[in-house]
Amino acid sequence: MVQRQLPKVNELLELMRFKKPELDARKRRLDAALTIADLRTIAKRRTPKAAFDYTDGAAEGEFSLGRARRAFEDVEFHPDILRPAADVDTSCEILGAPSALPFGIAPTGFTRLMQTEGETAGASAAAAAGIPFTLSTLGTTSIEDVKAANPVGRNWFQLYVMRQREISYGLVERAARAGFDTLMFTVDTPIAGARLRDKRNGFSIPPQLTVGTIVNAIPRPWWWIDFLTTPKLEFASLSTTGGTVGELLNAAMDPTIGYDDLDIIRGMWPGKIVVKGVQNVQDAARLVDLGVDGIVLSNHGGRQLDRAPIPFHLLPKVVREVGKDATVMVDTGIMNGADIVASVALGATFTLIGRAYLYGLMAGGRQGVDRTIAILRSEIERTMTLLGVSSLAELEPRHVTQLTRLVPVGGQGQDARV
Ligand SMILES: Cc1cc2nc3c(=O)[nH]c(=O)nc-3n(C[C@H](O)[C@H](O)[C@H](O)COP(=O)(O)O)c2cc1C
Repeated sequence: MVQRQLPKVNELLELMRFKKPELDARKRRLDAALTIADLRTIAKRRTPKAAFDYTDGAAEGEFSLGRARRAFEDVEFHPDILRPAADVDTSCEILGAPSALPFGIAPTGFTRLMQTEGETAGASAAAAAGIPFTLSTLGTTSIEDVKAANPVGRNWFQLYVMRQREISYGLVERAARAGFDTLMFTVDTPIAGARLRDKRNGFSIPPQLTVGTIVNAIPRPWWWIDFLTTPKLEFASLSTTGGTVGELLNAAMDPTIGYDDLDIIRGMWPGKIVVKGVQNVQDAARLVDLGVDGIVLSNHGGRQLDRAPIPFHLLPKVVREVGKDATVMVDTGIMNGADIVASVALGATFTLIGRAYLYGLMAGGRQGVDRTIAILRSEIERTMTLLGVSSLAELEPRHVTQLTRLVPVGGQGQDARV
């Protein structure tokens, strides 16, 4: 028999815990996002389809990106037990200076298209979090304005060596003058990848108004108000070089770049130099032998060659070849702090986030980028604590097994079976 009683008011009152309503709509929206995927959902709701798809999409069948994300999902962690790790230290040293977290913001072109605060939001959020920010050659905020947004923290500059070499050399000089500490030379864009979503959406840079874009704009008035009432969207660091946006974009992709260009740029650049877009063990070894300061294993977030090697799978092979002392970074597919912890365990010195940053930006400007960093930080700290490690240096390959859904069965692909 269940014993019953009259409800007691004081017991009822104990259960009532009404929270003060959050009046700041942006904060309310962002606080409700618990994962990067939640930020992506908000971003999709708030951003015109063509701009969202430009960010979210990848090349051809988008297999590279899907596989890279799956590779991170397929991580199995191996925790140690009864190893006190009350205070977790997530800081590391990267390219001669500290970073509070083992990731930085990757270079992304046309960032103010996603949300008008663009690179300023990224650079100032990175400054507040104590992590590096990378400005793209095709950025929509100039080198000098990024420096103003992040005057004390670390700024890196991503270089496309353009058909007209002098344009790129001019950018290298400006970035050096502005005190950027690292130059990231991207080498995986001999031509533009085929972004089919962009073609289907009739997407163009700069954006053009069509019946479709106008209809799509109706539920997203704030993006359009921002777009129409803030400075013109352009490749800000290139605005003085002449040429339309389309011509500049075209000039940024050059199939003739080679090791000679790397030599020339190294001669011009006073700081650290990193090559981004490395996709096999031999190239990694060659670059490290040549004495570059770091390499980024990346397939450009799946936006260039589709069915490219999965950078996270390449990582242990490259680290085995070039040794633990070389600076090996990895990107493509990072959606969770656990992805970053797994990368560090397998020997990555550092990681970069592209879309995770842009989803936050689209979801809520600067505060949205802060939210991205906060989510990743708490996931990193939680994963480390659950693994029983208190510093990044304690992470080792034995903490991770890479489960494979995709097992190579043949072909001549050089690294697949190393
Ligand atoms: C919208 C967008 C624009 C990008 N623009 C550039 C660029 O201008 N230069 C570059 O080196 N990489 C560019 N990337 C690639 C990123 O630097 C990075 O390699 C990639 O986003 C990592 O994958 P993730 O988005 O899954 O984190 C871009 C990526 C995205 C999503």
